[in-house]
Order: sequence, then structure tokens, then C-alpha cells
Amino acid sequence: MRLILLGAPGAGKGTQAEMLMKLYNIPTISTGNIFREHISKNTELGQEAKKYMDEGKLVPDELVLELVKDRIVQKDCENGMILDGFPRTIPQAKALDAMLEEIGKPIDSVLDVEVPDEVIIERMAGRTVCPSCGASYHKLFKVETVLGICNECSTHLIQREDDKEETVKKRLEVYHAQTKPLIDHYQQQDKVLVIDGVGTVDEVRARVKKALGVN
Ligand code: AP5
Repeated sequence: MRLILLGAPGAGKGTQAEMLMKLYNIPTISTGNIFREHISKNTELGQEAKKYMDEGKLVPDELVLELVKDRIVQKDCENGMILDGFPRTIPQAKALDAMLEEIGKPIDSVLDVEVPDEVIIERMAGRTVCPSCGASYHKLFKVETVLGICNECSTHLIQREDDKEETVKKRLEVYHAQTKPLIDHYQQQDKVLVIDGVGTVDEVRARVKKALGVN
């Protein structure tokens, strides 16, 4: 199964990806998480990506594509993958189509998780994330078992730099201008499954499963 999770920043893509990776036993590739790993290791790529991420802008396509090209051909992706936060521009989507065509493994479905901007802004204010495994939590909607500690790997949770309200607003602008057009791109391929992303995590999870035809 090869899935793309499309949706605004904070729509719940990462949260649903956690469920989907367990369901299908396939990896999630989150370009945002990969960049954050590079930033925490202070690599050259991390330093470059940080300049854009801190301002709520997209990292240039060529840097993203280089990363993804190497990642999707790794052995753990043989049976499928969940792409979370990639592609995000039309050139990225076209490049991904070409890469997957070359290996004869096209995308099966694109889940478009829809959440209004006002709900997103509220959600982002309460989010904390694990700097080690990338799991995300929320002070009201998805509370960790031990306060401030990741349920998955026991690392101390942090707040993301780009979750400040002004940066979130910029990220939403960028989403509407550069990423939303991907819905049309994939609708032309008849691959889009629209998911109402408003509601509890469990409600959204049930809608995702129903759209994919699983129990
Ligand atoms: P990235 O890390 O991909 O962030 P994003 O797309 O902006 O999405 P988020 O991770 O912020 O949100 P999400 O939809 O995963 O929501 P989550 O499940 O955490 O990208 C960051 C930056 O990296 C970009 O701005 C860009 O600079 C760069 N970048 C990355 N990929 C790139 C690319 N391909 N090209 C160029 N640049 C790229 O949920 C959010 C919160 O809400 C959590 O607290 C969660 O617990 C809570 N929540 C989830 N679902 C619900 C629910 N149903 N009800 C209530 N709360 C909920």
C-alpha cells in the first residue's frame, strides 16, 4: 500500500500516519521529521532547511527530492509506505510520479485530511512533539501517559519552533498557495479520498479506515 497524506499543517496527518503504519506494517516517511533530525544533528542539510522552516516557508524542491529519492528505494519500503508531508508542490508531485513509475509502484490513494484554518490554529497551540521518534501529542486531545514524556520512546517532549501562532499562519498561507493544488493533480488520477479531519482522533481514524475499506 502506497499512501500520501495531504492536508494543512496540523490537520492530523502525523497522528493518522501512526495508526496507518501499524495497520499496514509499512514505514512512514515524513519529510518534516527527516529535516528535524538533520537540524538536531546540525548537518549541512539541517542548517539549510532550518532557514526556511523557522519562517514557515517550504524547503526548496531540489533539497526535498534528493532526500526522498534515496529513501523510497530502501528495503523497508518494498511493501509500501505512507508519505506524510510530501509531496507539497506540483514539481514534487510530478517528480514523485516519475520516480514511482520508474520502479513500477504507483501511489494507491491520496488522503486529503480537511480541517478549517481556525481549528488548526487552536490545535497547534497545544501540540508537543517527541524530538526523537517524531510522535505528536496535544495537551487536551492526545495527552501522554506520563506528563512531558513520549509514550513510544520515553524522550522528553518539546514544542516545535514553527508552532508559534505567526509562523502557523504563514504555513497555512503557503499550504493554500502551493500544496492545495495537489488535490486537483491527484483528482485527475482519481486517487483522492477526502477525509473530514474535524472531530476526535478516534473519529477521524474511523473515517480514514472506512475510506480505505478496512475495519
Ligand atoms: P511538517 O513536519 O510536515 O509539518 P506540517 O505538514 O506543517 O504538519 P504538522 O506535522 O505540523 O501537522 P500534522 O498534520 O502532522 O498534524 P499532527 O498529527 O501533528 O513540515 C514542517 C516544515 O518542514 C514545513 O513547514 C516545511 O518548511 C518543511 N517541509 C517538510 N516537508 C516538506 C516538503 N515536502 N517540501 C518542502 N518543505 C517541507 O496534529 C497536530 C496537533 O493536533 C497534535 O498536537 C495532535 O495531537 C493534534 N490532533 C491531531 N488530530 C486531532 C484531532 N482529530 N482532534 C484534536 N487534535 C488532534
